[in-house]
Amino acid sequence: MRLHLPLALLVAGCQTPTSSTTTASPTNKPPPPANVNDVALALAEGVTLDPDDPSTCQRCHAAVVAEFEESLHRRAHHSSDPLYATMRTMRTVKQGDHIPGQCANCHNPRDTTDHESKAARAGVTCATCHQLEGVHADGGVKGVAALQVGPGGLFRGPHDIGNGTSPLHANGPKLPALVDGSTLCLACHGEEANAAGVATCTTGPEYVASKDTRSCTSCHMPEVNGPSGPVTLRTTHRSHRFVGPHQQHRLGDGGVLDEAVKVTGRFEGDTVVATLENTSPHGFPTGFPARMALLEVRALDASGKELGKNVTADPMKEHPEAVFNRGYVDAEGKPSLAPFAAKQVRDNRLGGGEKRELKWKAPAQTARAELRLKFFLVAPFAAKTMEYTGPETKPVVLAPVVVSR
Ligand code: HEC
Ligand code: HEC
Ligand code: HEC
Ligand code: HEC
Ligand code: HEC
Repeated sequence: MRLHLPLALLVAGCQTPTSSTTTASPTNKPPPPANVNDVALALAEGVTLDPDDPSTCQRCHAAVVAEFEESLHRRAHHSSDPLYATMRTMRTVKQGDHIPGQCANCHNPRDTTDHESKAARAGVTCATCHQLEGVHADGGVKGVAALQVGPGGLFRGPHDIGNGTSPLHANGPKLPALVDGSTLCLACHGEEANAAGVATCTTGPEYVASKDTRSCTSCHMPEVNGPSGPVTLRTTHRSHRFVGPHQQHRLGDGGVLDEAVKVTGRFEGDTVVATLENTSPHGFPTGFPARMALLEVRALDASGKELGKNVTADPMKEHPEAVFNRGYVDAEGKPSLAPFAAKQVRDNRLGGGEKRELKWKAPAQTARAELRLKFFLVAPFAAKTMEYTGPETKPVVLAPVVVSR
C-alpha cells in the first residue's frame, strides 16, 4: 500500500483537475475517486466477492474489516456469543420453537430461516447495513423487517460513488438512513417488549426523551485517522469496532465506560455525597435489561485502612440507590428475568444526560472516600437464574474517584 499510494495520487490527479484540493476535506465537493491501482491489483489477485463473508472485502476495505472483526456485531450469532446463546436456549425451552426465528431478526439478519448457515453465522455483517435502499423508521417494524434490502451486489455507504468505481460490486448514491447516524441503528436498537407487553429494551425512547441530538455513530463509530482501506483516497473514516461495554470487557482497553458517567464527590459532615452524571443520550446502563452498574463507596482512615463500605454482600438490601438496574417480577410477584416478567417494578438507571446525587453515611474516623463504579454485563441475579458462569459475570471495574474530607 505504501508503495503505490503516491502513484495513485498521480493517477487521481490526471482524472480530476480539482483533486489537489481533495485532501483538505471539502464540504461541497464530490468525494475523491478511488485508488484505481489497488482496485486493479485486487482484480489481478483474483479476489471474489461474497456479501456475507467480510474477509472477501478485506483486500479493498482493510481497515474497516479489521475493526469489524473486533466488534460485537461480528459476534451477534449464538455460535459466537455464549451469553446470548444461553438466553436463546432457555427461552426456546420455556417459550417454544418460534423463539430462534424471533431472535434472528436482529442477531442473524442475513438468514432468518436457516439459523446455522454461513450467512446466519456471520452476524450483523457488512451487507446488513450496506446492501440497503432505506430503513422504515415509523417504529412499527424492527430488525430485518425495518431494513429495505436492496439488489444483491449494490453496496451503498456514506458517500455518493459513481457506479463502476468498484469492479466487483455496484456503487450508488449515499444512503440517508446511514448518514444521519441514528435511523439505521434504531431499527434494531430502538425498543423491545416481552410477550406480555412489558418493556425490555428502551434505548430508542431513552434517546428521544433526552432531547440530545448527537447521533449514535458520533460516539459508537468515532472518526479515526487513516483510510478505510487501500482503495479510497480519503484520509479518515469512522471506526467499525462499534465501541461498547463488551469490547472494553473483552479487550480490557480504555473504552466508552471510562467516559460514560462523570463521578464527583464531597463530604457533608459524616455523609459522603456522590454526584453521578450520565454523559450519554440514553440510559446508563442501556439495552439488554439484565445489565447493572453499582457505585461502591469505601471509607478509609488517614493511614489508608478500610473502615467500611456501602455494600458488602447484597447491594439490593444494603444500598439499593447505588444499584443502577431494572427489576422485574413474574405473575406471582417473584423476581424474574425480563422476558418472562408480568411487570417491571424498578428502574433505577440513570436517564440520558441525568445528574443524580447519592448519599452514604461514613464511619466517624473517615479521612477519605473512594467512589468506584462497577459495570456488570450480566447482573448476579440474572446470571444465577440463567445458570450462566461465563466471563461476562465478572464486572468491568473503573478507576476510583477519591474524595478527601
Ligand atoms: C429488535 C432486535 C432484536 C431482537 C428481535 C432480539 N434482540 Fe437480542 N439484542 C438486540 C440488540 C440491539 C442487543 C444489544 C443491546 C446491548 O448491547 O445492550 C441485543 C442483545 C442481547 C443479549 C445480550 C448479549 C450480550 O452478549 O450481552 C441477549 C442475551 C439477547 N439479546 C437475547 C435475545 C434473544 C434470546 C432474542 C430472541 C428471543 C433476541 N435477543 C432478539 C436486538 C434484538
Ligand atoms: C451496523 C451497521 C454497519 C455494519 C455492520 C458495517 N458498516 Fe460500514 N458503515 C456503516 C456506517 C453507519 C457508515 C458511515 C459512517 C459515516 O461516515 O457517517 C459506514 C461506512 C463504511 C464505509 C465508508 C468508509 C469511508 O471511507 O468513509 C465503508 C467502505 C464501509 N462502511 C464498509 C463496510 C464493510 C466492508 C463492512 C463489513 C466488514 C461494514 N462496512 C459493516 C455501518 C455499518
Ligand atoms: C476489488 C476491490 C473491492 C472489493 C473486494 C470490495 N470493494 Fe467495496 N468499494 C470498492 C471501491 C473502489 C469503492 C469506492 C471507494 C471510494 O471511492 O472511496 C468501494 C466502495 C464501497 C462502499 C461505499 C463506501 C462509501 O464511502 O460510501 C461500500 C459500502 C462497500 N464498498 C462495501 C463493500 C463490501 C461489503 C465488500 C465485501 C463484501 C466490498 N465492498 C468489497 C472496491 C471494493
Ligand atoms: C440488524 C440489527 C442491528 C443494526 C442495524 C445495528 N445493530 Fe448494533 N447490535 C445488534 C445486536 C444484535 C447487538 C448485540 C449482539 C450480541 O450481543 O449478541 C448489537 C450490539 C451493538 C453494540 C454493543 C457493543 C459492545 O461492545 O457492547 C453497539 C455499541 C452497537 N451495536 C451500535 C450500533 C450502531 C451505532 C448501529 C448503527 C450504525 C448499529 N449498532 C446497528 C444489532 C444491530
Ligand atoms: C455521547 C456519546 C453517545 C451517544 C451519542 C450514544 N451513545 Fe450509546 N453508549 C455511550 C456510552 C458512554 C455507553 C456505555 C454506558 C452505557 O451502557 O450506557 C454506551 C452504550 C451503548 C450500548 C451498549 C449497551 C450495553 O450495555 O451493551 C448500546 C447498544 C448503545 N450505546 C447504543 C446507542 C444508540 C443506538 C445510540 C443512538 C440512538 C447511542 N448509543 C448514542 C455513549 C453514547
